[in-house]
Amino acid sequence: MNKNTLGIGMVGARYGARMHHANFQNLPKGVIEIKGVCSRTIESAKAFAKDTGVDFMTDDLDSLLSREDIDVIDICTPPASHHEIAIRAANAGKHIIMEKPLTGYFGEPGDHEPIGHHVPRVRMREGANRNANAVREAVRSNNVKFCYAENWVYSPPIVKMKSLIAASNGSVLELRAEENHSGSNSVFSKEWKSMGGGALLRMGSHAVGACLYIKQWEGLQRNGKSILPVSVLADTADLIHTKASEQAKKANAHQWISSDPLDVENWANVIIRFDDGSRASILVSDVGLGGLNTRLTAYMTDGVIKANMTSNDGIETYAVDPSTFEQEYFTEKLETKAGWNRPSCNEHWFRGFTQEIEDFVHAIKEDREPLAGIDLAVDCVSVIYAAYQSAEEGRIIHLK
Ligand SMILES: NC(=O)c1ccc[n+]([C@@H]2O[C@H](COP(=O)([O-])OP(=O)(O)OC[C@H]3O[C@@H](n4cnc5c(N)ncnc54)[C@H](OP(=O)(O)O)[C@@H]3O)[C@@H](O)[C@H]2O)c1
Repeated sequence: MNKNTLGIGMVGARYGARMHHANFQNLPKGVIEIKGVCSRTIESAKAFAKDTGVDFMTDDLDSLLSREDIDVIDICTPPASHHEIAIRAANAGKHIIMEKPLTGYFGEPGDHEPIGHHVPRVRMREGANRNANAVREAVRSNNVKFCYAENWVYSPPIVKMKSLIAASNGSVLELRAEENHSGSNSVFSKEWKSMGGGALLRMGSHAVGACLYIKQWEGLQRNGKSILPVSVLADTADLIHTKASEQAKKANAHQWISSDPLDVENWANVIIRFDDGSRASILVSDVGLGGLNTRLTAYMTDGVIKANMTSNDGIETYAVDPSTFEQEYFTEKLETKAGWNRPSCNEHWFRGFTQEIEDFVHAIKEDREPLAGIDLAVDCVSVIYAAYQSAEEGRIIHLK
């Protein structure tokens, strides 16, 4: 695309949108301009516009899509709306940036509610894959770029992991990825019909995405051919609605975990088998106190590489009083600033948010694929929904 300033239209106006907006501001002046924001309610769009200085706000997506000065639609809404907004954006000829996950299953006419308790996962899997493939088809047929905001693959520890794997002659036999915290920010996260799943889809997209990405990349590096996932085995649970949780509530020792799902899981363990015989194990939960924890370890034939995208000892603090450093941001979802802590020096950069936005803007301008694109997004949905089916049916699910 031969254009100096890319016009961006934001869809969604809360946490994800504000995070993207902050990272657009890191780009040199004139590279992009945020031309407008659309939200479900005009109140949210107005609040976003007021805080960011964006001067066009709407609750009507068509009025954003019809603007000729907007080249890119940045989708930061809950997953249930992702595929429809993406298809409409692609059909309007707009490039797309989309927050994870690409899509999922959100219910069909005739489903009993809550759908997470009633719809068989095999049917959900078919629906989720259909949605994912429909977005890929719309992107391809309209010849627009799709930029998948999977920040892990852009984070400096994982970028370094790739250099280290490239430097060795060994193979990655096992990847172990984990993400946990004490519950989502989003009010939509409790229900399958708006979120498309629980912790596994919401957070596991990162861990699954990074493992799929590393194995594909490793295969291309070594043999010119991606290493692909072939089967999945999984277990999922709602750990909040358990006897163990009830007992802690009675003892008044259960006040800090905000996760309180209606019909989604808040814990999942997934094993992915790849076509070279290696494995990835994924452990995600939103019943984990202590602030956000995101890690990926590569166990190789000739070494071990541990990537930690969150808390690390670049800087450490100690305070007796939790209000001592009250005004200063430490890291996402940290419950207290008392005691010893490890604030992130630059969380957006360290977690890859800054670099993903930069790559997306350059990919669109240079007419090339971003590091994280539509195929990774579609593959993540495929693996995660196979995991849901595996957890329900208690067996290994083969992907093809
Ligand atoms: N990469 C990461 O680490 C990370 C972190 C957080 C979130 N995310 C992702 O970012 C996305 C948004 O999450 P969030 O936490 O910002 O969610 P959120 O707090 O629930 O906010 C969602 C926003 O989308 C708007 N919205 C909902 N449905 C819409 C529709 N059909 N059309 C237009 N606007 C709509 C809402 O409008 P109203 O305000 O008007 O209701 C709200 O402004 C999700 O995909 C999430 O997975 C990623």
